[in-house]
This record gives sequence, C-alpha cells and structure tokens, in this order.
Amino acid sequence: MDKTIGPGVVRGTARVPGDKSVSHRALMFGALAAGTSRARNVADSADCRATRRVMTALGARVRDLAPGEVEIDGPGLANLSEPADVLDAANSGTTARLVAGILATQAFYAVLTGDASLRRRPMARVVEPLTCMGATLLGRDGGRLLPLTVRGGSLRAIDYTLPVASGQLKSAILLAGLGASGTTRVREPAPSRDHTERMLAYLGVPVRYAKGEAAIEGGAAPRPFALDVPGDISSAAFFLAAGLLAPESRVELPGVGVNPTRTGALDALRMMGGEVAATDDAVDGPEPVATLMARTAGRLSGAEIGGALVPRLLDELPLLALVATQAHGRTIVRDAAELRVKESDRIATTVGELRRLGARIDETPDGFIVEGPTPLRGARCQAHGDHRIAMMLAVAGLIARGEVVIEGAECVEVSYPGFFEALTRLTRSR
Ligand code: S3P
Repeated sequence: MDKTIGPGVVRGTARVPGDKSVSHRALMFGALAAGTSRARNVADSADCRATRRVMTALGARVRDLAPGEVEIDGPGLANLSEPADVLDAANSGTTARLVAGILATQAFYAVLTGDASLRRRPMARVVEPLTCMGATLLGRDGGRLLPLTVRGGSLRAIDYTLPVASGQLKSAILLAGLGASGTTRVREPAPSRDHTERMLAYLGVPVRYAKGEAAIEGGAAPRPFALDVPGDISSAAFFLAAGLLAPESRVELPGVGVNPTRTGALDALRMMGGEVAATDDAVDGPEPVATLMARTAGRLSGAEIGGALVPRLLDELPLLALVATQAHGRTIVRDAAELRVKESDRIATTVGELRRLGARIDETPDGFIVEGPTPLRGARCQAHGDHRIAMMLAVAGLIARGEVVIEGAECVEVSYPGFFEALTRLTRSR
C-alpha cells in the first residue's frame, strides 16, 4: 500500500495506542499467572496479536471484553501445555526472545519461528544464556537464527553479563529464571527498558533491580492482575516530532508511559532545543504516566547522542535523524549498532530514505551523522517493511516541499494500526 503525505499543520489532542512492550508482557504474564487477569488499553497491533496467539497456543484463553480490554485465563507457569504446532512470532522480536525464555522453563517440545525479517535477526544472544541455564535450543545456522526448537525444564540459575543492552534479552533470561533454582542475575552494559522487572515485582515475584542490573528468585510466578497499559511513548514520539517540526503546530498526548528507561527521546528533543512538556497523570500500576505536549520549535540545534542515552531512545533514532535534518549544525549518533539488527537495518534504511528527500546524512558503522538544517523535498520512499521507518517518513511528508509517497506503508500495523487515520485527524494541509 502506498501512502501520500503532503505539507501540513498539526494541531490537537491524540490518544496513542497502548505501549507495545507493556502489552506483550501483560499478555505473557496473564498466561503465567494461574487464574483470571484483565488488561485495558492493550495494543491491538500485529506484534501483540502474535504474542496473543503464541500464549493461546501454550494454553492461555484470551477474550476481548471491549476494544483494547482483554480477560486472560492463565494456566500458570507450572501448567503451560505443549503447543500442537509451530509458534509464529511474525515480525515481533519481543515475542520471539521473551517466549524463548518462557519455553526454556518447560519440559515440553516447541518450535518458534517468525516472518522473513525476524528469521534474519540474531537469536544466538538468547540461545547462549538459555543453554547455559540447561535448556536445549537448536536453530538454523548453528543456533543463530529462527526457527528454533526449544526443550527446557530443570534450569539452573546463572549470573550473566549481556553483550549488549537489550530489554528483550534481559527479559528472556529473567523469565527463564522463574523456572530455575536459585537467583538468576543479569547485568548489562547500560540500562535497557525495565518493564519486565517492574511488572513482575508489581505482581508479587521476588525481583530486585537497579540501573543495569536485575536479579530474580526461581520458583515464583506472577499473581493474576488487573492492569491499565499506558500509551506508547514510541508511538507518541512521531506526533511530538510532528508538533515540533511543522509550522504553527501544537499537540497534546494524554496517558503516555514515561518510564525513565524509555524517555530518552524527550531528553534528546529538549537537548536540541525543542519544547516538550510532560505533566504527570495519576496512576495505579507499575508504570509512570504523563500528558505530553509539543509545539513548533524555534531554532533547533544539532546534538551528540551516544552512550547510556542510546538504549533509552533506540526505537526513536530514525525519527531523531529526521529532526536532526532541521537542526542547525551537526548531529552525531554513535553506539547504536543495534539499529542494524532491528526490523530493518535502521542505519541503512534511515540514511537511504532521508537522502531521497535531500537530507545531508552519512552512515557510520554504529550510527549516522546529519548536517542541518536542510529543506526536504517530496519523493517516493520505501518503508522497507519497517513500521518505524514508515511513520518517520510520514512526519517527513508534513514538512517536505511536495509530497512524500511511502511504499509499503501497511507495515505501520506492526505497532500502530490506526496511525495514518490519527495523523490525518490532527493535520490541516498548508
Ligand atoms: C523491546 C526492547 C527493545 C526494543 C523493542 C522492544 C522490548 O529491543 O527495540 O522494540 O519490549 O523489550 P532491545 O532492547 O532488545 O534492543
């Protein structure tokens, strides 16, 4: 599907869908908790639907009560059942990695696969620690690629230092730790998102966590729960950037999750001179929530983004590259080689697509360098099957001279099915 976006002014209020990371975990933990749980504002995106199907295949029953509201009958960690068929994580790395951790706790046989993009993404990083814990995992290319077969059970706890900061990898090991005897400890080079630790602690599991470190006691399982999933800051970011970059614009986004391990983009936008306000909303749950507001920026300046900031804004880097094209001076992004193993090689796809629009941007092995400001022009672009590239290009369309045509725009379904409709509601053409 092609989508065409022309110059626009963005004004108004939007509610973004439930956080993708938290929605995955709500569906998984609802299955691991023996009894009935409820979650509201669960993302109905293709990725989260994959998790829902996989957990159903493992014995959970998931019912829709209202749009976004689900009731989960969980068999409990001790009573998951051997799936009758291959488990398909589709495009979702989070599903594949976290479910691998859950499967490692089970004595049955399961096969995990995904779509063509996911079958190219690295799995050795989960296979290795889960094998150390005592599970048997076999995969293509010596265990590096899906499909993976997993037979687990009788795990031993490990003390493991991650090779990269990764919320998915850390979570896979912690979930396997639920089924291990003793304390499983994970250390990481920089703090990644901590939704798993927060939610499990909230659900009564003995887990301790601090920046860059987490430890879980084996033998526990989450208790059934009722939970509201906050809005997804990674979806909100596109509207914030649109509000900053488009003329005479102002957007307000209530109910957005502002977990500090996820708010790096807010810090980066402010560092560049953007006005982004956050006012705390009342919450009853493990995640902080706020109303975010952005309005047309005055002068934006280039920034250096690297180190511990990177895991806190990794998914927003294609969008920040676009913002950098409108900032005065040089923006340097480094320490972000992980972008190369996302839904697409996001360094190559971001640089390639922004260049079609006239941006001055160069690839580096672990990031990119942008010179700005550069007026962007309309062009035909490609989403490369990557939802975040498609949504970044839509924001580019609002500020380019002429129209941006996004080929393959349907991939926004992966995280934000109603994205183009929401953008249209907020936009007046100019
Ligand atoms: C996610 C973790 C991140 C992120 C992905 C979702 C998660 O990946 O890019 O979109 O839900 O744990 P890594 O932290 O594994 O790189």
